[in-house]
Amino acid sequence: MNAKKDLGPVPAVFPMPVLVVAAFDAKGTVQLLNAAWGQICDTDKIALFLDPDHATTKAILGTKAFTVALADRAHMAEADYAGIVSGNAVADKFARSGLHAAKSARVNAPVIDEFPVTMECELAEVVESKTLYAVVGTIVNTLADERVLDEKGKVDPARLDALAFDQFRHGYYATGEKAGQAWNAGGVLARAAQAAAKGGAQ
Ligand SMILES: Cc1cc2nc3c(=O)[nH]c(=O)nc-3n(C[C@H](O)[C@H](O)[C@H](O)COP(=O)(O)O)c2cc1C
Repeated sequence: MNAKKDLGPVPAVFPMPVLVVAAFDAKGTVQLLNAAWGQICDTDKIALFLDPDHATTKAILGTKAFTVALADRAHMAEADYAGIVSGNAVADKFARSGLHAAKSARVNAPVIDEFPVTMECELAEVVESKTLYAVVGTIVNTLADERVLDEKGKVDPARLDALAFDQFRHGYYATGEKAGQAWNAGGVLARAAQAAAKGGAQ
């Protein structure tokens, strides 16, 4: 065994995403926040874990729609700002971000122009726990800047230059270096195990 240390109950998932979640509040003002605690939970569903007191959470509950953008390295300052300042305290939080937004054509929520990939979501479900709401959205469409697409029209992580959040030391990391292909990197081991299970292995 490698020498291991107990770290206590550290939330040790890496990488975490850097998601910029946006919604219109009751006045039609854009509310936005930075969320690392979010994940795809079905082919058309995303789950975010949000503090119910955040201005953006309240906006989502009001309009029942939101967008989720992937923050890229070029807009790290704006994404981080979204996670430091609250719309509860600063009425013109979005205006001060320097970002630009227009209403989504599909859901009643703002699409922030500067981020390269944005999921347009309708609120599907809210699961309330003691401290956080699990906000589940149905992804009705995803918008992508052409510059991040490959020849086949798929998002290319190398062009995306998306940020990942490090829950351990609170760093932002740039992703994009491909290490291998899923459902393929373990192929040799998988084929050997399958052959052994069939009794064909030496
Ligand atoms: C890197 C980072 C990740 C964060 N992740 C979450 C998260 O997953 N859920 C959450 O409720 N708040 C999260 N926050 C905090 C909110 O983004 C922050 O409190 C924000 O100011 C709330 O804005 P609002 O009140 O205008 O909606 C995060 C902040 C940072 C900087």
